[in-house]
Order: sequence, then structure tokens, then C-alpha cells
Amino acid sequence: MTRPNPDIRWLFEPRSIAVIGASHDADKIGHKMLQNIITSGYPGRIYPINPKGGEILNHQVFKEIGAVPGEIDLVVTVVPGKYVFDAVRAAAAKEAKFNLIISSGFSEVGNSEEERRIVSFARENGMRILGPNIFGLYSAKAPVDITFGPGGIVPGQVAIITQSGALGLAMIGKTAAEHIGISAMVSVGNKADLNEADLIDYLVKDENTRSILMYVEGVRDGARMIETLKKATALKPVVVIKSGRSQRGAAAAASHTGSLAGSDEVFAAVMRQAGVLRAESIKEGFNLCRFLSRTGIPNGPNAVIVTNGGGIGVLATDACEKHGVALLDDLQRLQEVFGPVTPGFGSTKNPIDLTGGATDREYEGALAAALENDAIHVVIALYCETAMFDVDKLSPLISSTHERYEKAGKPVIFSAFGGGSIDDNIARLAEEQIPVFDDVYEAVACVGGLYKHYRHRITPPLPAEEIEMDRPAIDEIVRGARADGRTFLLADEAQKLMRIVGVPMPQSKVAHNLEEAVAIAEEIHYPVVMKVVSRDILHKSDAGGVALDLEDRNEVIDAYQAIMRNARAAVPTARITGIEVAEMIQKGLELIVGARQDPGFGPIVMFGLGGIYVEVLKDISFRAVPLNRAEILSMMAEIRAYPLLRGVRGEDPKDIDKVVDAILRIASVIRQVETITDIEINPLVAYEQGQGARAVDARILLAKV
Ligand code: COA
Repeated sequence: MTRPNPDIRWLFEPRSIAVIGASHDADKIGHKMLQNIITSGYPGRIYPINPKGGEILNHQVFKEIGAVPGEIDLVVTVVPGKYVFDAVRAAAAKEAKFNLIISSGFSEVGNSEEERRIVSFARENGMRILGPNIFGLYSAKAPVDITFGPGGIVPGQVAIITQSGALGLAMIGKTAAEHIGISAMVSVGNKADLNEADLIDYLVKDENTRSILMYVEGVRDGARMIETLKKATALKPVVVIKSGRSQRGAAAAASHTGSLAGSDEVFAAVMRQAGVLRAESIKEGFNLCRFLSRTGIPNGPNAVIVTNGGGIGVLATDACEKHGVALLDDLQRLQEVFGPVTPGFGSTKNPIDLTGGATDREYEGALAAALENDAIHVVIALYCETAMFDVDKLSPLISSTHERYEKAGKPVIFSAFGGGSIDDNIARLAEEQIPVFDDVYEAVACVGGLYKHYRHRITPPLPAEEIEMDRPAIDEIVRGARADGRTFLLADEAQKLMRIVGVPMPQSKVAHNLEEAVAIAEEIHYPVVMKVVSRDILHKSDAGGVALDLEDRNEVIDAYQAIMRNARAAVPTARITGIEVAEMIQKGLELIVGARQDPGFGPIVMFGLGGIYVEVLKDISFRAVPLNRAEILSMMAEIRAYPLLRGVRGEDPKDIDKVVDAILRIASVIRQVETITDIEINPLVAYEQGQGARAVDARILLAKV
């Protein structure tokens, strides 16, 4: 009988740890890990395992894991790759719950088969694997440092999950040097079994963790990751740093959506959708996390800048605008609150400028007044070194103010700028884990992050929406294309499918001869367009297979003959099914709507300005599916050209509701019909409000079987 999955708690709070490969040699990783476990004050049972037996660091060594007397929650495997499977088998026989495989030499160097063999064996035997190819794990809760890092981790409230090993190890030293308090630090390496989502499930519930920082290189099981992150960000801020921003994935994809959906754009959009904050650098990530782990959520949107320097006050004001931080602008109230504590030359218009003549008492008074007032929700306290302010009083003042604000649950951030004595003050406060920034922009960026998180938290999540569709009819179209050996739908099949799901398409029919073409054109009414229908001609315009704006019978006859001639000349072997005669679509705003199965995140949708400029302007936005109308609208509002939909310079607004509706329908297809990998409507023409939107052309690709 297989054992059930162990509770993730025992990964972070193990009661006993065995180190397979604990070495007698002080220079080896297996020795250093044992040493860190011991010196980090781990209170549980420690079992070094090494066939040589003896003693290491005053701990009795067991020659094999089977000889250990008690239960084992966590095993650390530090033996060369070729011995890992046997070590895992022995650990599973001992019914260990978790196994941290430090060893390298698996999928990261192409040895995926051995990695899969290890993981499937472990899973069948109820043991979960972290790694392989990791530096280990630190948990403040246990407490235990099961890494081969430099030690000295400062316990605190930031949890770090990192995919990069070396960078993660360096983060241990860096966070310690900067006094960033850590609740947990986990290396996920190859993510062969456990991944970020499993860890976040625990960290979200862990009361020690107040913010989560992830360093991500690639995503596995994106759909689950999104779900987990959505749940996490409803409770705690999550910050992500992702490398590989410049890589454009899926470059050779067969659709615009594919080539435009560079992996980074999709990643960024999905993270935003899940309420995750994105940091551009490790420094920014650290800044955000250390601030967010020491502050609560504001009670409202209004920030106030208190400064003793006019210049940095203006810099901070600019930064507030950039980072979406609203400054309280109720001048009367500001005067009431700050008038009594602001010197005559100062200003009570936000920023509150106490001027360079302000003493520490006046500065403290202004911060106390801001704390008292309920209309002020966040305070940005800026300090410039002056002779009027006794610099020795700075760190006690910041420390006590920070404490009072923390008790009152009102966020405050400090920035101090000046010479060496200011840096000393900043360093002293860092030891108390009070973040003070020497750069105003960095401080305001953190408040911006707090507000992004705040807005996400106060926006109630709406359920996902999906439309129902006639599946048998869709499956029949797909089956027909498959039977024909195709991985795409012909234009008429794609149109039929779009009509089934309710995306408005122009009237059209396929003519098989000249007489039929004329009859269809007369039925539809002029003007019409004509397009060749052939499985062998994908780029119809390039092959001279398209004629537009045909006004009468004679033009239709000429176009029919020209298209046939051109198509045969362009692709002599082409099998031509016929010529499609369609209603000529009136001019409107050309948009593009796409949907595809993303290799990382599963179904996604794309929206942008369409037509011929889409590839150049790349004015597009993405969302993961499932989603709802509100999310579709926010995706649409992200593109630069969105004002065109709202109507500019006296134009009437476009029929935004109908565009939202079309996107929801496309999103529903990509989620429900797994055999369809790509859908692209380019253009979707939007008309004025009440006039709807029309899909001019639809391309649909199928999964290869
Ligand atoms: N059970 C228990 N102990 C075993 C064992 C087994 N089946 N097989 C070997 N050992 C012992 C060895 O006797 C040795 O102990 P000793 O020094 O006292 O003799 C110890 O385990 C280590 O084995 P060794 O062969 O010396 O390996 P190593 O220390 O040179 O390398 C790894 C082992 C795991 C560190 C190495 O293979 C590796 O993968 N390094 C990369 C790790 C890494 O960078 N990970 C990613 C970080 S981000």
C-alpha cells in the first residue's frame, strides 16, 4: 500500500534529520551541511549516515539509514549523483517523509531520465523530493540551517524561494550582512517534485512569514502556480524576481500570438493578474520584502511626505506619481494637522516641508501629528542631514517612531541622506531590522509596492466566467481537419467554429465555380471580398489569393479568374477547395485577439491593436485563463492604444462590451477544447457603441497528434 503524501510542515519543522553522505572531511559539502545543522541550534535528532561509521562533530555516525533507531522526517542526500537512487531507496524504506537531494548531475545536465526514476520511486513510496541540485533549506521555525551556506542567517519574517543555487547561497550572506530577517530560505533547484507552489502553501500559513520573495528562472505547472499565488497574495505580499527577461520564447510559433507572447511578457502579465509584485533586481526585491515584512496594510490610499528638505520632497513627489502613490491633497486638513508643528517658512502642502531649519523635536512632532490623524494612511519620512538636527538623535527618533507606527498599524517609511554619520545611523537601524533608505526613489518604490498589494487585497476576487458551447459540433470540425491530415482549420471551418461559439463573423460561403461565386455575392450583397480556400496556401495575400471591395458581378467574375490564376502560379501543386465569397467588412478600429496554450502557464489570451502594425508596435497585453469580464477589461485597458477604444477627439466610444464578449468566447474555447492550441482573430473590427464588433479573419491551429 502506498503511503499518503506527508504534511509539508515536516519539511520546515522536521523533528529528525538524517544526512546521507555526512563526511568526515571538513572541506566536503556533506560535512558543512551537518555543521550548519548543528550550529544553527537545531533541537531535533540528527543522524549522520556514512558507511565508514565513527563520529563526526561529536555525533554518532550510522553506517546505513536503516540502522537509525527512530523515525526520520527529513533526509539530506549529499552523495555523488550515481549513488543517489540507492540512497533514496534506503530512505524510502525507512519511511522518511522528505528528501533534500543536494547532488547535481540530473536534468540540469540532460540526465532527466535518472531524475524521473528517482522521483517516481520516491512518490510511489510516499516520500517527497526537494531538488535535486539544491543548496538546501533554512527554516526559522525549527530552527535549522540545512544548507552549505556561510551560516549566520538572521531569523525574521521574509521567506525566500530560489531556483538559482549559487545566487541563493550568496543571498544567505547578503541578507545576513544587511540584517534582513529570514523566516525560510528554500532552494528548489530542478523542481523535479516539489515546486514553489508546494512551499508557498506552507509559507502562507506560517505566521513567521510576512512577505515572500521568489527568484524564478522558469515555471513548472504554471496553472497551479497561478492558483497558489492568487491565494497567497490575498493574505501576504509576494515579490518575484525573474531572470531571462530578454529571451523571446516561442519565436518560431505559427501565429502572432505565439511570436508576440515572449515568455517574459506572459510571465509579467500572469504575475500581475495573480497580484504578485515584480522586482527588477535583487536589490529591489530585498528592499520590497524587508519593508513589507515590517509593515501592515494601510487603511486607505492617502500618503503624506514629511521632509526637512524641499528638494528631496519634490523628488519623492515625482516618485509617488511614478509608483501610483496618492498624496493627500486636502489642504485644509493638512494645515490643521501640520500647521502647529511647521515653522513659518515651511509648507503644509503635501510634501510637508519643515525646512532645513527644523530640529529633531519639530521633526518628531510632525511625525507624531501624522500618526494621530486618520485621514493620513501612509507616511513617507524624509531626512536631509543639517546642522540644526542633532544627528545622534536620528536613529533613536526613527526607532521609536517606527515602533509607535507599527503598534498603531500605520505604515511609515524612512529615507535619510547625508554623510558618514547618516550611514552609521542607517546601519544601526538595519540591525533592528528597520529599513531606512538612503535613496528617496527606493523608499517610494517600496510604498508603491505596498499600494499595489493593498489595491489587490481590497479588490474582491470575482469568479471566473466561461461560456457554454456546442462541443459535439466543434469536435466534428476538428475531427474533419484531423482526418484530412491537417493541424489547422481551413478558413471556412474556422469561421464555422467561431459562429458556433458566438463570435460574429462576416457572412460568407465557399464557391466551387464561377456561377456559384456570382450567386453568393448577390445573396450577400455587394461589396464583397473573395479569398482562395486551400489547405496548401496559408498566406493567401502573398499568393495573390485575395480580392477586396468587389462592387458588382463583373468584378466578381474577374476576381475569380485572377485568384485562380495567381494561386496556381504561386503554388502549382495547391489543392484548391474553392473561393470564399464574403461580406466586405466596414472600416472600424482594428484589434487583435489571440489565445493559445502556453507551455508554462496553460491557456492564455492576448489582446492588442490589430491590423498590419501589430508586429511593429507590440501594443499587446495578456492574461491567463480562466478569467472574468473585469479581468478582460483590465487587460484591454493596459494597452497604450486603449484611449482609441474609449473614443478620442470627439469620436464616439467603441463597443467595448462586445469586444470583451468576443475575448471571453475565445478564452472559453482555448480552455475547454484541448485539441485547439492557437486561435487568432486579426483583425477584430470594433464599431461604435451599440454597433458591435466583427471578426474578419480567424486562424485556428490544432495540437499535433
Ligand atoms: N551513504 C552514505 N554515505 C556515503 C554513501 C552512501 N551511499 N556513498 C558515499 N558516502 C560518503 C562518502 O564516503 C563521503 O564521506 P567521507 O568523505 O567521509 O568518505 C561522503 O559520502 C561524500 O561522498 P564523496 O564521494 O566524497 O562525494 P563529494 O563530497 O565529493 O560530492 C556531492 C558529493 C553531492 C557534493 C557532489 O556529488 C555534488 O553533486 N556536488 C554538487 C552539489 C551542488 O552544487 N548542488 C547544487 C547547489 S545549488
